[in-house]
Amino acid sequence: MKITFIGGGNMTTALIGGLRKQGYSAAAMQVVEPLEENREKLTGVFGVRCCAAVDAASLNCEMLVLAIKPQQARAALAPLTNQFKGLLQEQLVVSVIAGLRLTDISRWLGGYRKLVRSMPNMPALIGAGISGLYANPEVDHEGRDTAEKILKAVGHTLWITDEAQMDAVTAISGSGPAYVFYFIEALQQSAQVLGFDEATARKLAIETFVGAARMAEQSQESFSELRHRVTSKGGTTEAALNSFESDGVAAAIMRGAHAAAARGRALGDEMGRD
Ligand SMILES: NC(=O)c1ccc[n+]([C@@H]2O[C@H](COP(=O)([O-])OP(=O)(O)OC[C@H]3O[C@@H](n4cnc5c(N)ncnc54)[C@H](OP(=O)(O)O)[C@@H]3O)[C@@H](O)[C@H]2O)c1
Repeated sequence: MKITFIGGGNMTTALIGGLRKQGYSAAAMQVVEPLEENREKLTGVFGVRCCAAVDAASLNCEMLVLAIKPQQARAALAPLTNQFKGLLQEQLVVSVIAGLRLTDISRWLGGYRKLVRSMPNMPALIGAGISGLYANPEVDHEGRDTAEKILKAVGHTLWITDEAQMDAVTAISGSGPAYVFYFIEALQQSAQVLGFDEATARKLAIETFVGAARMAEQSQESFSELRHRVTSKGGTTEAALNSFESDGVAAAIMRGAHAAAARGRALGDEMGRD
C-alpha cells in the first residue's frame, strides 16, 4: 500500500519512523512538505521521496495522511480540488489534524467522504502515544484496519463511534501529557523546597511517576485500591492526600478536563467557519 503524507513535520516523522521500524518499505511512502530542510531530513533519515507541493505522483497512493497544522489545512487541501481535481478517487484520507472536523475537511475536499479522523498525543513522538480514531460510515472494515495500523505505529489506538467524543479524547489523552508534566513539575518543586538540588528533585519526581504508572498498568486493582494500599492510617501519605482533598485537587482536575473539552468544541466551531 502506498502512503502519501501531506506535511512533513513532527507527527509525520514519528509515523514514518514507527512504520519503518515495523518493516514498512520506504519506497511505499512519500511526503509533501514545503520546507527544504524537512524534506532533506526525511529523505536522509528514512529514504522516502519528498516533494515541495502536491503533484500527480504524490496522489498515486492508496492512503493520504494529513499532518499539517489546522490553520494550514485549507490551503494544503486546495490543490486536490483545483489543479489535481479527479485524482482523489478511492484513497483513504486519514487526518491527524487537531480539532478539525471531518465535515469541514470533506467540504474542503469537494464532498469527499472516505475520511478517518485521529487524535494522537505527544508521546506518539517516542512511539508511546494513544490515538482516538473515528471513521465516516463510508470507510469500510479494510479502511478502518489500515488507518488503525498506521496509528499503531506510534502507540495504542481506540475507536470512538461518535465524532463529538473526539473533544473528550482531546481533553483526556490529547492535552493529558501536559497535566502529567504539571504534576511532575509540582512534585519536583516540592522536592527542591524540601532541600534537594534540581537534578535530584527531577529524578525523584520522574522515577516516582514512572514507577507508579507502570505499577498501575500492570495491576488488576483499581487506582483507588492501589492508593489505599500505600496509605497507612495516620501516616505520611494520608497527611498529603488529606491535604489534596481539602484543597479540592481531584475536583480541580475534573474541571480542567471539562474546560479542555469545551475549548476543543469551540475551536472546532471556529476552524470550520469559512
Ligand atoms: N506533535 C504532536 O504531538 C501532535 C499531537 C496530536 C496532534 N497533532 C496534530 O498533527 C498535526 C501535525 O502536527 P506536527 O507537530 O507534525 O506539526 P508540524 O511539525 O508543524 O508539521 C506540519 C508540517 O506541514 C508543513 N506544511 C505547511 N503547509 C503545508 C502545505 N500546504 N502542504 C504540505 N505541508 C505543509 C509545515 O511546514 P512549515 O513549517 O513551513 O509551515 C510543517 O513542516 C497538527 O494538526 C497537530 O495539531 C500533533
